[in-house]
Amino acid sequence: MQTKTLKADDEGFACAAKILRGGGLVGIPTETVYGLAANALDGKAVSKIFAAKGRPGDNPLIVHICEFDQIYKLVAEVPESAKKLAKAFWPGPMTIILPKAACIPDEVSAGLPTVAIRFPSHPAAQRIIRESGLPLAAPSANTSGRPSPTTAQHVLHDLSGKIDAVLDGGPCGVGVESTVITLASNPPRLLRPGGITLEQLRSVLGTVEMDDAVLHPLKAGVRAQSPGMKYKHYSPKANVIILDGTDAQYKDYVNAHAAPHVMALCYDGDDKELSVPAICYGGSQDDSAMAHELFDALREFDERGADTVYARCPAPQGVGLAVCNRLMRAAGFEVLHLG
Ligand code: TXA
Ligand code: MG
Repeated sequence: MQTKTLKADDEGFACAAKILRGGGLVGIPTETVYGLAANALDGKAVSKIFAAKGRPGDNPLIVHICEFDQIYKLVAEVPESAKKLAKAFWPGPMTIILPKAACIPDEVSAGLPTVAIRFPSHPAAQRIIRESGLPLAAPSANTSGRPSPTTAQHVLHDLSGKIDAVLDGGPCGVGVESTVITLASNPPRLLRPGGITLEQLRSVLGTVEMDDAVLHPLKAGVRAQSPGMKYKHYSPKANVIILDGTDAQYKDYVNAHAAPHVMALCYDGDDKELSVPAICYGGSQDDSAMAHELFDALREFDERGADTVYARCPAPQGVGLAVCNRLMRAAGFEVLHLG
């Protein structure tokens, strides 16, 4: 099929809504990353998402809504904690997991008794949901295993010919996927860090546990709380290695290992002292900039033919926790402690 590129204008939104109502797939901008949307209440439409992405069938999808009250039809019960979180952080980059309502097809929940719900803040995402009149199931609009797309061009690179359309709303703001918190366990548990930080979640709910899989490989025999944790993610073709050390140790190590196709993912300004091609992804203290740049940088290493990328990783706090989580996964948890 020919994938249409739609503009964020009246005609583009009307076309996206029509495709979605007809059971098709549309790449949509959100404030985090681009999503690949289908009618969340139509199992057949949703199964096309898995085929287009090459996504394992046991990895459930997030259902997107454009006003809070839509949640009542999609989950079994709305606890006080969900209302508090929504009041503080919706619309925005946060996904809440709750026991599902009967209308949620098994394709969306991948057979789990729960469903993930998100109310995005991106005006184009909200308009597509509203004009289609549907809750929209949408994972990130990348080929499974690749870095998530933060531009319409990334979506086309991965999925052109496999989806009906992409609506180009420009680059995404946050740059990493939403924070995922489950309220189906007690105490609530952070399954995936994102733009809404663990510190922010705790300020509203008090105790919030962090799942071990956020920063560590899943232990053999342990069942993933979130099926997405099982899979290698965000990986460019290159072998990504995180270097843990001071500025000087990082530069010395990279320069000592300079070779063709060796590249660096570094903080702003560090590239001047490196003897390998480098991509700067933000100031050393600017974790929001790093979140914004990370996936684009990982894709660019592929285009430049990198086979090894030495990366610096921010402290696991604030949005830095999300950056760390994605980088650790891209690196297959390979960290070299210097010094
Ligand atoms: O920012 C985002 O969340 C983007 C945009 C498009 O909204 N979406 C996104 O979806 O990142 P996806 O499918 O790439 O990641 C969803 C994650 C997966 O790791 C999945 O396993 C987990 O959420 N998830 C979804 N439903 C779940 C459930 N019922 N229980 C546990 N984990 C769930
Ligand atoms: Mg994804």
